[in-house]
Amino acid sequence: MPSVEVCYSPALYPLFHDTNKVVVVADILRATSAIVTAIFHGAEKIIPVQSIAEAMEWKKKGFLAAAERDGLVAEGFELGNSPFGYMKPEIEGSTIVLTTTNGTQAIMAASGCAGIYAGSFLNLNVLSEHLIHIKKDVLILCAGWKNKFNLEDTLFAGALAKKLIEKGGYLTHCDSAIASVYLYRMAEHNMVNFLEVSSHRNRLRHLNLERDVEYCLTENICPVVVKYVDGALCRWDENRN
Ligand code: MLT
Repeated sequence: MPSVEVCYSPALYPLFHDTNKVVVVADILRATSAIVTAIFHGAEKIIPVQSIAEAMEWKKKGFLAAAERDGLVAEGFELGNSPFGYMKPEIEGSTIVLTTTNGTQAIMAASGCAGIYAGSFLNLNVLSEHLIHIKKDVLILCAGWKNKFNLEDTLFAGALAKKLIEKGGYLTHCDSAIASVYLYRMAEHNMVNFLEVSSHRNRLRHLNLERDVEYCLTENICPVVVKYVDGALCRWDENRN
């Protein structure tokens, strides 16, 4: 029987790393939510990069490049991490180069495993069905905030772990997975309220980005599986292994 585990911070990832596991990276506010939104709205691929300088080099070569630091669109870029920026007509068919404070870093930290997926509430059901179909051990990697624990990624981890356990017969002996499921059960009927005083919700509130928070906590409005393949995140057929 496959297992599910949860890692609360990229700093802890080396303790969980295993080349046989697939990793679902979660940066609910907002990197993986923005990525899933972009792919759902027709972006062909998203290339995650570490630094602003790298993103700028791609931009100079004519690529659509997006950069976010500390919740803000980085200087010199028009596109940041708001999912609403990825619903525009120019997104269709595009290749986007993206760097964010935590999310893209977590995706790159997970390399060397059996597969990397972008997880969000927006694609929760289709992603869980795909994982149940491929039957591999799953590690949910929370991007957190600068290596610290955060609540919203943990709630998503709980939501996904709960589905894998209840619908896919997954097992867990991982205390962080068990704790995530408890937290999600407490929050599931009103996640927006549950996160009222959480750190990044507050940060985004000060930046007038409340509508991003509500959007990112909405389940199943972008039913696409997004997988990291050959250096880029792209749409993946949910029935394929
Ligand atoms: C990140 O990658 O750190 C975040 O998604 C930050 C944000 O979008 O505000």
